[in-house]
Amino acid sequence: MKANWRLPSRGKHGHLAVKLAVSILLVGLAFRLLYSRSEELPPGVGNPVAERSEVARPAESDDVSPQFDSTGAEDENAGDDECDLFSGDWIPDRSGPVYTNQSCPLIESHQNCMGNGRPDNGYLYWRWKPRNCELPQFNGRRFLELMRNKAWALIGDSISRNHVQSLLCMLSTVEQPIHVFHDEEYKSRGWRFPSYNFNISVIWTPFLVKAAIFEDFNGVSTSPVELHLDKLDTNWTSLYPNLDYMIISTGKWFLKTAIYYENGRAVGCHNCKKEDISEKGFEFAYRRTLHNVVNFIAKSKHKGLIFFRTSTPDHFENGEWHNGGTCRRTAPVKEGEIELKDLNRILRDIELSEYEKASAVAAKNGVNLKLLDFTKLLLTRPDGHPGPYREFQPFAKDQNAKVQNDCLHWCLPGPIDTWNDVIMEIVASAS
Ligand SMILES: *[C@@H]1O[C@H](CO)[C@@H](O)[C@H](O)[C@H]1NC(C)=O
Ligand SMILES: *[C@@H]1O[C@H](CO)[C@@H](O)[C@H](O)[C@H]1NC(C)=O
Ligand SMILES: *[C@@H]1O[C@H](CO)[C@@H](O)[C@H](O)[C@H]1NC(C)=O
Repeated sequence: MKANWRLPSRGKHGHLAVKLAVSILLVGLAFRLLYSRSEELPPGVGNPVAERSEVARPAESDDVSPQFDSTGAEDENAGDDECDLFSGDWIPDRSGPVYTNQSCPLIESHQNCMGNGRPDNGYLYWRWKPRNCELPQFNGRRFLELMRNKAWALIGDSISRNHVQSLLCMLSTVEQPIHVFHDEEYKSRGWRFPSYNFNISVIWTPFLVKAAIFEDFNGVSTSPVELHLDKLDTNWTSLYPNLDYMIISTGKWFLKTAIYYENGRAVGCHNCKKEDISEKGFEFAYRRTLHNVVNFIAKSKHKGLIFFRTSTPDHFENGEWHNGGTCRRTAPVKEGEIELKDLNRILRDIELSEYEKASAVAAKNGVNLKLLDFTKLLLTRPDGHPGPYREFQPFAKDQNAKVQNDCLHWCLPGPIDTWNDVIMEIVASAS
């Protein structure tokens, strides 16, 4: 399967500088609210719904190769009828998610939209239909069979955590994972599927490089982050050789106020306002970091399958984090109806360009490095975020309560469950 990695057209950069300056000021609060420690979840409970939903799903085809159809006409790439799993449309689908808040005990409370009382559920009844091919639904049993005696890790920030919970919930319809390790803050964690000798972990490393983060007990920054752009975080590189599959990503943490180091010397900063350190902008650090990360991978001689995932778009409307931004939609939009925000586009452009450069090196070294770019799939899902339902029953006491919205992470179940359908398809065709 080959996919088209087209760079997005560069839009108007007109008011970018102003918008950037504004957005950067707002980011501090966002992190305080949304990237604070994850809560430990109650221990596993029974799984009555899962059994049923597994049975209720249509029989999956054993044929993993994408089924091509003849209607390639709507694709912008005239004559190109190759299967691109990352371009498509959301179409109504009555079957709904394979798990619920009742069947899966692993959903973090901030993403448990159902459990928190989100009143609408229409956002759960959509299926991703790639243009020119079909995407089979995730088959947990088949995935676990493929993963016998393998180890996976999802490496990155809280979106990776959001993703690991989605994957575990989908797999728990087949077997309950056993929680096998965690760090003090429950940010890095591991699970094991005993019947398959399959291990999966989420590794907390929001910058991928060595970082000193200074926060008080509320998660409020007390001093700029110190980022060593040329030193990869050993929290993930130490595990790297022993993993069979991994998904690596980063993103919004780079917008934080930070001082950048190379060779142990300060080489610049973002937003630090120190006279002896020059402002370089977060793009500088992001490019350098990703360059180092993807080149480490490309030159590593690793024999596994390594995905580099682009960062995910947010959908705050009528404001941002701090000033009442919301995401009230209840259905997907059509491609093109929502434009990628400037900040999201800047991050993605750097991700794509560093990936493209490294993928040539990887190919030469026989390293299996692939891109996961879910931007189009997610940009059309402004309905998939918790919004106010990151908290339990936010309007129970007061209909008009002012509630912090989360329009960055994703409800579980929700649209990012589709990531696993896509990943399964790629993994199955690569094995
Ligand atoms: C799941 O969500 C429903 C509402 O959709 C709620 O009644 C139930 O208590 C929730 N269960 C858990 C375990 O959160
Ligand atoms: C999974 O982790 C366990 C320890 O929890 C280890 O004994 C086993 O070898 C690991 N399996 C794989 C495939 O890495
Ligand atoms: C590495 O992991 C430790 C323990 O989980 C954590 O305290 C530290 O912040 C992590 N390092 C980075 C750079 O994220």
